[in-house]
Amino acid sequence: MIKIFEPVELGSLKLSNRVFMAPMTRSRADNSNAVVTERHAKYYSQRASAGLIISEGTSVSKRSVGYVNVPGIYSENQTEAWKQVTRAVHDKGGHIFVQFWHVGRISHPDLLNGKLPLAPSAINPNKNVRTYNGRLKSVTPKEITVDEIKQTVNEFKQAALNAIEAGFDGVEIHASNGYLFHQFFNNVSNKRTDEYGGSNENKSRFLFEVIDALKDIIPENKIGIRLNPMMHGASGIWVDEQTADTFDYIVNKLNDYDTAYLHLTRPAKIIDEPYFIKDVISHYRNIYKGILVANGNYDLESAEKEIASQHADAVAFGVPFIANPDLVNRFRNGYPLAEADKNTFYTSGDKGYIDYPNFEDQ
Ligand SMILES: Cc1cc2nc3c(=O)[nH]c(=O)nc-3n(C[C@H](O)[C@H](O)[C@H](O)COP(=O)(O)O)c2cc1C
Repeated sequence: MIKIFEPVELGSLKLSNRVFMAPMTRSRADNSNAVVTERHAKYYSQRASAGLIISEGTSVSKRSVGYVNVPGIYSENQTEAWKQVTRAVHDKGGHIFVQFWHVGRISHPDLLNGKLPLAPSAINPNKNVRTYNGRLKSVTPKEITVDEIKQTVNEFKQAALNAIEAGFDGVEIHASNGYLFHQFFNNVSNKRTDEYGGSNENKSRFLFEVIDALKDIIPENKIGIRLNPMMHGASGIWVDEQTADTFDYIVNKLNDYDTAYLHLTRPAKIIDEPYFIKDVISHYRNIYKGILVANGNYDLESAEKEIASQHADAVAFGVPFIANPDLVNRFRNGYPLAEADKNTFYTSGDKGYIDYPNFEDQ
């Protein structure tokens, strides 16, 4: 049991271990400007011993928001506020990427000043959305025009400028879990007949346009990409005969770039179809030549195995980091893990956020 505690290089960054913290929305930016606060700085600094922290999904624009109390990185105020977070993590010797989030159709006019959510096609994902007026049914989104796609690419570009200003070590593009990029990749959510629909090249065009735009702002090796290729039956995304081929295409094309990493989530639900990739990590390890980060219901033993077998270079842990700010130390010493309280995942305040103690301080 040693590999997971070995350092790993991510571009020019030297990370002290391979236990990464997965991005997690915690809905604590409960203020009108969607800015992070001292409380966020404390939360992230408590977890700074992770090899890399990937921040909660962070809105790249006003139109990209899909959940309550999510912080943004599109305004000056927000950018300024993030500085206290990056500083607090760096002061403890940690590293932090910001996760760029555009939810596409997983939103509601109540979160968008009355505007319709944007999506590749006008297809309702039939999902409940958490708004300030409680859980509401999603609506049929507006089919995004090519001009709006270009504008959205520019929003990512501005967010990258802000991320540098805020002191982040890099950015992760949230191209998974049924949000805007994933909506372009999937045949059920993308029925376009223009250059953004149909072929693999077209369905992934928006992703590569965003990567190309970010490259002008931030070194390629500070850009990570998150995918959940076999997500099925959630947020209106369904795997079909073409899905694996589309993701094979995307991952192959990522090999043409010198990005920081590819972050893959294993499917929560496995279906017994010949076209379904059951072992996403080893499948894409065979294709992807860069740093691969695995995620999805790992414990120390399974994570160590994934790294020792060279299927992954690092493993990102989500829920375990909520109740165990000192997860790395607990793993190292074989200390027991505390259990996270699901009721406080998305609530306000300190409870269930910054009040989980380190094992050695108990
Ligand atoms: C409370 C919570 C919030 C999450 N928010 C995000 C998010 O903002 N962005 C994202 O890509 N994934 C998000 N996820 C998914 C996690 O990053 C991760 O993929 C998932 O929890 C599985 O990993 P785990 O088994 O180690 O927890 C969230 C998960 C949880 C539990």
